[in-house]
Amino acid sequence: MPQILCKADDVPAEDPLRVELSDGHAVAVYRWDGQFFCTDDVCSHGDASLAEGYVEDGEIFCPFHLGSFCIKTGAPRKAPCSEPIKAYPVTQDGQMLVIER
Ligand code: FES
Repeated sequence: MPQILCKADDVPAEDPLRVELSDGHAVAVYRWDGQFFCTDDVCSHGDASLAEGYVEDGEIFCPFHLGSFCIKTGAPRKAPCSEPIKAYPVTQDGQMLVIER
């Protein structure tokens, strides 16, 4: 079901934004290459918030051990990350960003 994330303007140009959904589930929202992306916030390798990491070339680098994931698909890209994280398609409704979950 569709869930409102945040306003598009709330997402910084450089850094991910952590958003807690109404059920308490945390996701990370990214603005990259003129588009918005969203993944689960918690790293699959440990209890790190990916929103505290950094994005480079379409990958989110975890702040704990610098493993990475593709922000489009959630696929692991760099060790020690080996399990994917969930990625959610983002649509824009006016100023609001929405994901299907
Ligand atoms: Fe994310 Fe280890 S907790 S790479």
